[in-house]
Amino acid sequence: MKTVSQINNKGSQPRDSFGSKFGFIAATAGSAVGLGNIWRFPYITGENGGGAFLLIYLAFIVIIGLPVMLSELVIGRSTQRNPFGAFRKLKPGSKWFLIGIMGIAAAFMINAFYSVVAGWTLEYLVNAITNQFSGKNTGEITALFTNFQGSAWRPVFWLLVFVAVSASVVLAGVQKGIEKYTKILMPVLLVLIVILCVRSVTLPNSAEGLKFLFNPDFSKIGPSTILIALGQAFFSLSIGMGTLITYGSYMKRNENLGSSATSVVFADTLIAILAGVAIFPAVFAFGISPASGPDLVFLTLPNIFARMGGGFIFGLLFFFLLVVAALTSTISILEVVVAYFSEELKMSRKAATLLASAGIALLGILCSLSLYKVPEISIGNTNLFGVLEYVSSNILLPLGGLLIVFFVAWLFGKDKLKNELSSNGKYKIGYYAIYRFIIKFLAPLAIALVFLNGLGILTF
Ligand code: TRP
Repeated sequence: MKTVSQINNKGSQPRDSFGSKFGFIAATAGSAVGLGNIWRFPYITGENGGGAFLLIYLAFIVIIGLPVMLSELVIGRSTQRNPFGAFRKLKPGSKWFLIGIMGIAAAFMINAFYSVVAGWTLEYLVNAITNQFSGKNTGEITALFTNFQGSAWRPVFWLLVFVAVSASVVLAGVQKGIEKYTKILMPVLLVLIVILCVRSVTLPNSAEGLKFLFNPDFSKIGPSTILIALGQAFFSLSIGMGTLITYGSYMKRNENLGSSATSVVFADTLIAILAGVAIFPAVFAFGISPASGPDLVFLTLPNIFARMGGGFIFGLLFFFLLVVAALTSTISILEVVVAYFSEELKMSRKAATLLASAGIALLGILCSLSLYKVPEISIGNTNLFGVLEYVSSNILLPLGGLLIVFFVAWLFGKDKLKNELSSNGKYKIGYYAIYRFIIKFLAPLAIALVFLNGLGILTF
């Protein structure tokens, strides 16, 4: 497979592409699978009441997430451009490229809070290496997290380390190194999560956790929770801000877009659900609150490692793989900003990466401090971390997704769309009629309603 550094080396050289369908799926799944699945999905599900939230999330993944992903890929592959260039090419002189600007804003926000949590996983990797979990009870494991957050410099230090590592990976060329390894490491992560699931469901009182995750209680659902489910679907699939326009632009013309998108969505959803199965039984077994918020994974999993045979090695492997999963996601977000700075603002790739990373680090530091140390860094009643997380996931991504499906449904051209999806007749697209119906009516309407309702602008 070709490297993204080669791919992005535009200008005089011809654009490159992923070498195989598996290469594309691995890279895209690498973007999709990350902290969103293992850190954010469980804690958001926990805060929003469990099973009913999961059902709504799954419905959104299928009826909105998959069609939005497919639409992004169509735009990317048909234009072979970054999100701005793509809309400029498709509708010259129009304002559609603003979708790209929104994407940049979202990319900065997401990368800032994402890197904060990725920094925590680095601290926990060190905890695992130095065997900090074994023999500790639930209270002591909670104290491990509290002490870490109470430290004046450690969270910020790890944040900076993580931002530096992602910057160096993007600079060095993503796929050559990372891509080669993630193809092996991500399946290992999957196996590891399955092992954790087995350990978790065999804990005492585990049925309680499974009930929480799979038994829907719709009384816990309101307009805001529905919007949060939609935001999580977008966040987890990496859609709504142009990441998949960019990745789609590296796909070969003869690749089947529909089946590729389906594989990525399936892998992403599977890992999120498995993470839920690994976490919730343990939450109840150890008396942790499912609504613990962003701390949830860091309070729960170390308890499992502390109590399982081979806990030392499993803990170490797990946090290592979580760091890698976070890294393969961050670079896909950073890439959107770097592509814009370098291609549209004519910066060198190096300057673009450094500038973007400096901005992310700065915003990230404020975010990190706002959580525990300096809660005054807030807007209204919400700390900066929460604000960035909410605005990017629940506002910018759905809005971007809405505009993208609208564009593909109404402005892209029906024949062009069919040709792109079928690779000029090479593949059967039995799903076409339903896909078209969804992107023309169902998805825009559903996103708009959930959105306005969730923000309290429209109530029924
Ligand atoms: N999907 C990734 C995760 O679940 C995060 C991510 C990568 C992302 N690229 C994105 C989120 C683009 C939104 C948009 O961890």
